[in-house]
Amino acid sequence: MAEFGSASERREEGKKREEEEEEEDDVVCLDPSFFVDRSYEMTTFTFGSQVLHLLCLRAASTDYDLTGQLVWPGAVLMNTYLSEHPETVKDHSIIELGSGIIKKNIEMQSCSGNANAVLTAEKLEWGNYVHISNIIEKHPSGFDLILGADIYILLSYFAVISSFLLSQRLLCIQASKCRFILAYVSRTKVMDVLVLKEAEKHGMHVKEVDGTRTTISNLEGVIYEITLK
Ligand SMILES: C[S@@+](CC[C@H](N)C(=O)[O-])C[C@H]1O[C@@H](n2cnc3c(N)ncnc32)[C@H](O)[C@@H]1O
Repeated sequence: MAEFGSASERREEGKKREEEEEEEDDVVCLDPSFFVDRSYEMTTFTFGSQVLHLLCLRAASTDYDLTGQLVWPGAVLMNTYLSEHPETVKDHSIIELGSGIIKKNIEMQSCSGNANAVLTAEKLEWGNYVHISNIIEKHPSGFDLILGADIYILLSYFAVISSFLLSQRLLCIQASKCRFILAYVSRTKVMDVLVLKEAEKHGMHVKEVDGTRTTISNLEGVIYEITLK
């Protein structure tokens, strides 16, 4: 038989429960949407004969992990260059660093008439050896081409150094065959110098592609072709 205790014990128990409920009311629970903006809008981009429909945000987040939710000037620079030089990517295996792609956009491209390439995405933090090893395990013969568009917007030495370590590792797999095409948009002089210095430090040769220096969204952009020395 259950024991119910005395009336005073029950009153005490009830009071305690009320106090606990009041404390719970004071806790503010923020929905994950408070931190991550997912109000993507379908946007059309035209590069030469290529028309792309992409879901993207209008405004950026400053969290480096989320800056890829919109299409940056570097991506426009890169796509303009590639659409004018389709031989750069034709029949090539390609890895893009910091593409910031969302799964829905991959699905849309795979279903569109443009889809004559297999497109997949992997999580890749540049200094994360588990992420890097997973990708290299899946692609043991490496890639013909590494792409990077507007990947240096925040003044982060760590990002620059780790991305060059990563691209050096990827370039080494195919040694003389692999190239790294960087659509660089200048935001700070410090970063302009740092990028070139780190490439040099990692045994790379940086060549500015003739005729690609341009003004894009009021910023100066350029295409660099980077190879191992
Ligand atoms: C400004 S966004 C450019 C996105 C896209 N490439 C474009 O041009 O629209 C910078 C991209 O670099 C990525 N990124 C920056 N630092 C990174 C790091 N240390 N590891 C992995 N990704 C990084 C961000 O996640 C983001 O996708």
